[in-house]
Amino acid sequence: MPDEPLSRAERFCRRFGLQAPVLLAPMAGSCPPALSIAVANAGGMGAAGVLLMSPAEILAWVRELRAGTNGPFQLNNWIPGPPPRRDRAHEDRVRAFLARWSSEIPPEDGDKVPPDHQAQCEAMLEAAPPAVSSIMGLFGPELVARLKKSGIAWFANATTVEEARQAEAAGADAIVAQGAEAGGHRGSFRAEDAERQAVGLFSLLPCVVDAVRVPVVAAGGIADARGVAAALLLGASAVQIGTGFLRCPEAQIHPAWADALARTSPEQTVLTRAFSGRAGRSIATTYVRAAMEPEAPPPAPYPVQRGLTSRMRSAAQKDGDFQRMQAWAGQSASLARATSAGELLAELWGTARQLLS
Ligand SMILES: Cc1cc2nc3c(=O)[nH]c(=O)nc-3n(C[C@H](O)[C@H](O)[C@H](O)COP(=O)(O)O)c2cc1C
Repeated sequence: MPDEPLSRAERFCRRFGLQAPVLLAPMAGSCPPALSIAVANAGGMGAAGVLLMSPAEILAWVRELRAGTNGPFQLNNWIPGPPPRRDRAHEDRVRAFLARWSSEIPPEDGDKVPPDHQAQCEAMLEAAPPAVSSIMGLFGPELVARLKKSGIAWFANATTVEEARQAEAAGADAIVAQGAEAGGHRGSFRAEDAERQAVGLFSLLPCVVDAVRVPVVAAGGIADARGVAAALLLGASAVQIGTGFLRCPEAQIHPAWADALARTSPEQTVLTRAFSGRAGRSIATTYVRAAMEPEAPPPAPYPVQRGLTSRMRSAAQKDGDFQRMQAWAGQSASLARATSAGELLAELWGTARQLLS
């Protein structure tokens, strides 16, 4: 067979400097350098989601990573959407609802914004990682040209076949096909499409593979060797795993969240806008379920909702109360194992190879 899964994966590994076709998913707020160091030293690709990081923090993250590994890694950023339409009366209703879950929420919490996107992109270029990745849209032509000139690969997240086509046409070197099983935010280019176009990876992946010529990385619900092997059989060149690494000690997430992942069945996760205003998959906690009840006020748009929930999320971390935490989880959460990231990666790829041989 000319395009047998193992040789396809091998080509991807050779091109991007990997020993195993396994990428740690970029996870803003949940990818300390230690996790990427462990993954990269085991032959995979490390990752940082820089959305919430200042340029200085991005450069410090990369310095720390490079002190621990010579392996490859990606820096990932969100493409900013249109500015939110503010509705103070509605935000008051959201604040009153959220006050039931933490302290009073001052109106100005809704004004919080992530660091400047352009400055973050400059820092990413300065750090010169092997790869950068986009989510929620595409990098503009000017940045793409600068990436190409610097020899930095561009991995573009896509949640539909059409988004994948657009990403390839814009110059992406690989497509990350993100199925609706995925933990964390959905990468839909238009925020309003996220729930309506929630395509599962088993349908999305082969269609994206058939639609583009660049390599495709599979993401969403992959957390054991069976999933890795299945994704490669469906045409992926590599896999990207988020939730599956969250219980590794190097991920350093709150133990209450890590323990809850182990007990979460697929139907106990839900796509919700309750944390940030953009749709993401989390454990259906007491807060999330209450926020999705018909009588609860609909979440404010991104990033207003993120700002408004910041006090509740911080209090939950302090109190160890995962029912109010931003407990992102993919549908395969219960497959995540509490073992070191290096061991996990070796086991995932070792067993997947046997399954494919
Ligand atoms: C805690 C968490 C944070 C995430 N943050 C980001 C992010 O900042 N950028 C991004 O492209 N994807 C982000 N994602 C999505 C992942 O990159 C990936 O698509 C997803 O984890 C794959 O599904 P899985 O969790 O079932 O493995 C996040 C996922 C999780 C679980």
